[in-house]
Amino acid sequence: MYYSDELVEEIREKNDIVDVVAGYVKLQKKGSNYWGLCPFHGEKTPSFSVSGAKQMYYCFGCGAGGNVYTFLMNYENYTFPEAVKALAERAGVALPQAQEGEESRRRENRRARLLEVNKAAAGFFYYQLRDKRGETGMAYLRRRQLTDETMHRFGLGYAGKNGVDLIQYLRGKGFEDELIKEAGLASYSERHGLSSQFWNRVMFPIQDSNNRVIGFGGRVMGEGEPKYLNSPETPVFDKRRNLYGLNFARKSKAGSIILCEGYMDVIALHQVGFTQAVASLGTAFTPQQAGLLRRCTDSVLLAYDSDGAGVKAALRAIEILREARLTGKVIDMRPYKDPDEFIKALGKEAFEERIHRAENSFFFEIRILEGQYALDDPEEKTKFYREIAKKLCGFSEDVERDNYLQAVADKYLIGVDNLRKLVNGYAAQTGLEKPLERPRSGIHAKNRPEEGAKRSQRLLLSWLADEPGLYGRIRKYIGPEDFTEELYRTVAERLFGELDQGAFQPAGIISMFEEESTQREVAELFHTTLPRMETGQEREKAFRDILLAVKKNSYEYHMERLGTDVNALRQAVEGKKALEELAKTHISLE
Ligand code: CTP
Ligand code: MN
Repeated sequence: MYYSDELVEEIREKNDIVDVVAGYVKLQKKGSNYWGLCPFHGEKTPSFSVSGAKQMYYCFGCGAGGNVYTFLMNYENYTFPEAVKALAERAGVALPQAQEGEESRRRENRRARLLEVNKAAAGFFYYQLRDKRGETGMAYLRRRQLTDETMHRFGLGYAGKNGVDLIQYLRGKGFEDELIKEAGLASYSERHGLSSQFWNRVMFPIQDSNNRVIGFGGRVMGEGEPKYLNSPETPVFDKRRNLYGLNFARKSKAGSIILCEGYMDVIALHQVGFTQAVASLGTAFTPQQAGLLRRCTDSVLLAYDSDGAGVKAALRAIEILREARLTGKVIDMRPYKDPDEFIKALGKEAFEERIHRAENSFFFEIRILEGQYALDDPEEKTKFYREIAKKLCGFSEDVERDNYLQAVADKYLIGVDNLRKLVNGYAAQTGLEKPLERPRSGIHAKNRPEEGAKRSQRLLLSWLADEPGLYGRIRKYIGPEDFTEELYRTVAERLFGELDQGAFQPAGIISMFEEESTQREVAELFHTTLPRMETGQEREKAFRDILLAVKKNSYEYHMERLGTDVNALRQAVEGKKALEELAKTHISLE
């Protein structure tokens, strides 16, 4: 369904972003913005800000940002039309009836079409499995002790040996080859044309938390490489931001979430009633996934493989859970490899028992650490204790640290006072007086050097968005063409156009851009932190410096293009004049 720009804007204006976000995130007012813990990545201190004036949100931690539509698209995994619908309903705006014309179909956005083609493919695989042609697949899944009900619930399917059936089916449903390819369902070769990507495998459709098929995992039946073949990342399939089984787990009443490594683990657990089980999608657990989990629980039980790789993955996951302020515990699967095998061998009750006995993640870490030292050697033992002390420094809260300190001391028969001395010594020595703001998952380490020119353009746009009143005082010196960064120029054109009309809507500007990454960049742009300024004089100087920097850059930029760009000469001449005039002019901010 295609909605007009005016309607999209009207609906946006009728849904205050602060109200909408507050329905999902606990917000607190600080200064002119609202702050909360970012729902898009795990964090302990709020870096997620929502601005009522700009009708935008932006996370200074992970860079997520946008307007109320972007928020719902990211949080609920909605497509744009779905977000429009939800917000229209919320504000009581009537939407025009859907007209299934060719025109509206073509305009429908890519994400929606990708979801449609995935859904159709999932249906195809589903029926194949239950058809005569799917016998081998069915036999395989039965051998793995899955019931019909389970197979139905997870929409399991089968991709046959014939690589063209799926393609023909999808073409018949009106999907273009291009789309089928983009969804990762088929690949093209000169020799065979378009042929199915999944071939002779049992198929696991991967659903997002709203039950939409966003991708597939296909498993060979028996031995073979690769064991699982997964859909590539597409605009609807982001492996870092989804979890297998979350569509069911979020509705589970268990109160905690069981995090496993494999699809089969999730399915086996659900089959016996542990509907709180989820798994990452063939990649390591991410902070974004921790963020997803935090929306439905504060306690996560790790049910990772018991082998070396599983332990390593668990240690990493524990760190991520901790950063996201989720309590982590580890379920001991030994002597079995994974939950699937455990359940098959010992059954539901035994697993329940293991859940009750799950190990505190800190003790788990220490136990694994212990295995690396020969404790009958005093030197090794000392090293081990030092490592414990170091880990204890990871707790920033005194009470918590002390509780753990006592517990570990008890468990490993270390003198409490000795251990405390070690901890304090370690803290002092490494300057960790206030222990740990640990370098994290990489998302925060984003202080990329930015060229000055780009930065001043950002600052100026951000400042004008904050104080639109200033525009009138500088409009004779500056125009969109002074913004040499293409994206900024586009934003400036729209911003200045709106300011000229006196109706400025920064959040509306975001809807101009289709790509999520561009929307983020625009939100970031409008949340550039202005330099600290105490006095009015400092403010005036800062503003003037920024303005001059933008103008000077623009002048240099156009000078370089004399001879190649017909407009450059005029721009350069006017730029020079403006610069000279600016140098003599005082711009008051009062
Ligand atoms: N995985 C993958 N690609 C592979 C192997 C594994 O994407 N070639 C992912 C899958 O999501 C899989 C998970 O890693 O579910 C765990 O892998 P593994 O433990 O090897 O498989 P199981 O889930 O135990 O599957 P099965 O029981 O069928 O062997
Ligand atoms: Mn397994």
